[in-house]
Amino acid sequence: MEPISLGASNPGTGKRVCVVGASGKLGRYMVQHALDRGYEVVGVCRQQSVHKLAGFEGRIMVIPGATDDRAVIARAVRGCDAVLTVLVPWGVNHYASGTAQAVLDHADPGARLVFSCGWHVARDEKDVYSWKFKVYAAVLGRLAKLARAVDVDDQVEACRRIFASDTSWTVVRGSDLEEGDSQGLPVWSRHVGDPVLASNLTRRVDFARFMVEAVENHALVQEAPAIVGRLTPSAIAHAGGPA
Ligand SMILES: NC(=O)c1ccc[n+]([C@@H]2O[C@H](COP(=O)([O-])OP(=O)(O)OC[C@H]3O[C@@H](n4cnc5c(N)ncnc54)[C@H](OP(=O)(O)O)[C@@H]3O)[C@@H](O)[C@H]2O)c1
Repeated sequence: MEPISLGASNPGTGKRVCVVGASGKLGRYMVQHALDRGYEVVGVCRQQSVHKLAGFEGRIMVIPGATDDRAVIARAVRGCDAVLTVLVPWGVNHYASGTAQAVLDHADPGARLVFSCGWHVARDEKDVYSWKFKVYAAVLGRLAKLARAVDVDDQVEACRRIFASDTSWTVVRGSDLEEGDSQGLPVWSRHVGDPVLASNLTRRVDFARFMVEAVENHALVQEAPAIVGRLTPSAIAHAGGPA
């Protein structure tokens, strides 16, 4: 009888991934998906959030620290085949761009780098936004910055740096998110404004799955897929796209 390779259906066997921002909702789903696929997982999260990873105790290594702390990131990503980064625009101290830059600078050469953000980040002029979306984003962005809570421009800057890098990056641009059971791998398009995305809703668990599966999907290298839930009306109506 032929020996059965248990690693064959587990793409992560023998590989290590780092999840930067592991304690958040998206981060924890990514940790679970990565473990399910057989990856060894290293998680980075703020010291005060380590307790949120208690459910993974004994199964992952946790490195506490701010995700824009270059020393923390250097230590966490060393030896990793892939780095999955939750890019968040909190505060006004360049948290998102600092996080992205630390990952770009310290990841092993050739490592797959997958970053999350929202549709509001444009890749190029082919991304089309409705006037409603533009007004909403501009007003909300201005108010959030005035309150010194969120700096969306810095998340845009983080993505600009990623797009300009020659690493094996993918930036996954999320629609609005909701909780709920998986609907399967989201559908994606290269451009915001594509009718397939019109429903603007993705289950968070599936966003995380898309991030983790992107690690092994070399067609997504240097792409910025905008995603939507595969069972949403727009995805069903316009099936047959790049997904
Ligand atoms: N939520 C949406 O509707 C939506 C839509 C489109 C795209 N996205 C994208 O999805 C990703 C995460 O979304 P999510 O809803 O899953 O977020 P989440 O669970 O709230 O995670 C947010 C992350 O931000 C960290 N964080 C929170 N407050 C912070 C602070 N003051 N300083 C530093 N870090 C802080 C959290 O770390 P702690 O665990 O330490 O708090 C966590 O890692 C982001 O890339 C976002 O752009 C979200």
